Amino acid sequence: MKKILITGAAGFLGSHLCDRFINEGYCVIGMDNFITGDKKNLSHLNDNPNFKFIEHDVTEFISIEGSLDYILHFASPASPIDYLKIPIQTLKVGSLGTHNLLGLAKAKKARILIASTSEVYGDPLVHPQTEDYYGNVNTIGPRGVYDEAKRFQESITMAYHRFHGLETRIVRIFNTYGPRMRLNDGRVIPAFMGQALRGEDLTVFGDGSQTRSFCYVGDQVEGIYRLLLSDYTRPVNIGNPHEITIKDFAEEIIKLTNTNQKIIYKELPQNDPLQRQPDITLAKRLLNWEPKIGREEGMRMTYKYFKTLSEEELFKSEHKNFENHIKK
Ligand SMILES: NC(=O)c1ccc[n+]([C@@H]2O[C@H](COP(=O)([O-])OP(=O)(O)OC[C@H]3O[C@@H](n4cnc5c(N)ncnc54)[C@H](O)[C@@H]3O)[C@@H](O)[C@H]2O)c1
Repeated sequence: MKKILITGAAGFLGSHLCDRFINEGYCVIGMDNFITGDKKNLSHLNDNPNFKFIEHDVTEFISIEGSLDYILHFASPASPIDYLKIPIQTLKVGSLGTHNLLGLAKAKKARILIASTSEVYGDPLVHPQTEDYYGNVNTIGPRGVYDEAKRFQESITMAYHRFHGLETRIVRIFNTYGPRMRLNDGRVIPAFMGQALRGEDLTVFGDGSQTRSFCYVGDQVEGIYRLLLSDYTRPVNIGNPHEITIKDFAEEIIKLTNTNQKIIYKELPQNDPLQRQPDITLAKRLLNWEPKIGREEGMRMTYKYFKTLSEEELFKSEHKNFENHIKK
C-alpha cells in the first residue's frame, strides 16, 4: 500500500485530497495545526484504518515513522482575510514549512507536490496567464506575504530538484471552490453565499467589472492527482478558464439562491487583481486534463453544502480565533 503525507489536511483542499487518496487505496497521513482548518472536515475519516492524523505545525521539525512514497504540501493560509491577519505564519509556512517538507521528502526518497497559486502572477499584465509568465507582484503590498511565500516555495522546490535530484511537482492552483470552504474566509463564493443565506445584500468591491474564473474542487483534485503521477517537474496551472465578471456572478448567486437581495458596491481593496484566468494548454496536453464541472452545477453542490450549516455557523462574525496558534 502506497503511503502519502498530506499537509493542510483539515483545510478545504487538503480534506478533499485525503478523501481522493483514501479512495484510490492509499494509506494517508493527514497533518495540520488547525490554524485555518477545521476538525469537522476530517471527522468522516476518524474510524478509517487507512487514515492517520497528526496535529503538528509544519514550520517545526517533522518526523514521520517508516516509509513515505508521496508528500502533498497544502498547509498554508489561503484566503486574503487569513493571511492579512497572520502574515508571519503565512511567510513561515511557505518558507520554513516547505524547507522541512523537502528535507523530509529527501530523507524518505518520496515524491513531493507543492501547492502553489495563481497569486505568483500577482496583478498580471498578460491574459490568460501561461506558466512561463513571471508575474507582477508588489513585494511589500499587503498580499506580498502570501505571493512571495509561494514564489519562494517554488524556488526552493526547484532548487531541491536540481541540486538533490528530488522528485518534485508544482501545481499553480487558480480559484477553487466547493463544499468545506469556510463561510467567512473572505473569498467571494462563500462571502456571497453567506450573505444570501443570511438575507443580506451582496457586497461587490469596485464596480464589479473585474473578472474571476472558478474551478470546482472535484476538477481541481483530479488535476492534482494526475500531476502528482506525471513525470513533469515544472509548474502547471490547474484551474477553470471560464471567466465571469464579479457583478454577473453576484447576479447568478441571487438567481441560484432564489433571494431578492440587492448588490451593494464598496471600494476595491489594494492590489486586488482585476483579472485572473488560467491558460490550461499545458495541463490539457500533459495530463489530458480539463475541468468537467460547469459553474451552475458546481455552485448548486456548493450551495447545498452551505445550507447544511447551523445558524450559529452562519452568523459567526469572527472567522477564526488565531490567538491560540500564534506564538508571542
Ligand atoms: N482554495 C484555493 O482556491 C487555492 C488557490 C490557490 C492555492 N491554494 C493553496 O492550496 C492550499 C490549501 O488551500 P485551502 O483553500 O484548502 O485553504 P485552507 O485554509 O482551507 O487550508 C489550509 C490548511 O493548512 C493548515 N495550516 C496552515 N498553516 C499550517 C502549519 N504551519 N502547519 C500545519 N498546518 C497548517 C490550516 O490549518 C488549514 O487546515 C494552500 O497552500 C493554498 O495556498 C488554494
